[in-house]
Amino acid sequence: MHLKIVGSAAGGGFPQWNCNYRLSRAARNGESGFRARTQSSLAASANGRDWILFNASPDIREQIAATPELQPFPDGPLRGSPIQAVVLTNADVDHIAGLLSLRERQPFVIYGTQRVLDVIDSNTIFNVLDRSVVSRRVLPLNVPTEICDWRGEPTSVVVEAFPVPGKIALFLEDQERAQDGFGTEIGDTIGLRVSSRDDRRSAFYIPGCAGIDKALRERLADAACLLFDGTVYTDEEMLTAGVGQKTGKRMGHLHISGADGSMAALAQVAIARRIYVHINNTNPILDEEAAEAAVVRANGWEIGYDGMEISL
Ligand code: MLT
Ligand code: MN
Repeated sequence: MHLKIVGSAAGGGFPQWNCNYRLSRAARNGESGFRARTQSSLAASANGRDWILFNASPDIREQIAATPELQPFPDGPLRGSPIQAVVLTNADVDHIAGLLSLRERQPFVIYGTQRVLDVIDSNTIFNVLDRSVVSRRVLPLNVPTEICDWRGEPTSVVVEAFPVPGKIALFLEDQERAQDGFGTEIGDTIGLRVSSRDDRRSAFYIPGCAGIDKALRERLADAACLLFDGTVYTDEEMLTAGVGQKTGKRMGHLHISGADGSMAALAQVAIARRIYVHINNTNPILDEEAAEAAVVRANGWEIGYDGMEISL
């Protein structure tokens, strides 16, 4: 199984177009220790030929341009793509907007939970992906599912979707149900176990997660690799930075640091490689030389970056 992080930033990317916070400014200025990052997406292949994209970010065109594995084969037909399927982990803009850039009558398959496919089905702009060309398949929860191409041919990539605590997409929040997760239901945010048909070693991809309970810790035990929600380092980070009013929790993201953060919650779980992804432009770990980045590394975590490759 080969994985490649094609986008390691949260929604907005890094630097974000309108952000003048010190981190975005440093990245824009090309200061040492800062890498620009595109929005949240991962690619995986079990056979080196067929690629599965996990989430389709608004930066997808640039991401494909930077990723030879996702480009048409040099000896292939006039139109073609190694991308056989896009698997969605939620319906946030940073994970679905890129679908619109994949409109060119290229057959592939969109996989998502019924909740997430309902969002796409109910928004007619996604009809640019003609259903006779781009099919939509429901990803069941808690069942290993081999991802198949549009012809129904297996790609050897097997995923198991499972619900994680999270939040309904920002643009679908029901303000009248603020006390009730703004209308969030099971299936709005999922994590994925990713493995190959011939090898049960698993990577887990969880770019959005609001909490870690015993069941999730048990599921992650013995993982070969975990790519986990690294949106914010501290829950109040956006307020402290002065760029927003929302806590990590309010956005459906568990912070990294502290006794109640993801680093502590997973410290005792046997995970061979652990990598933060979906990193927000306020997160101090974006500065490779920052103390927070050193703490994360000292706790055994890697800080994901665009183009990072993982082989299981
Ligand atoms: C999130 O991860 O919280 C969302 O991507 C926010 C957004 O939709 O901008
Ligand atoms: Mn996001």
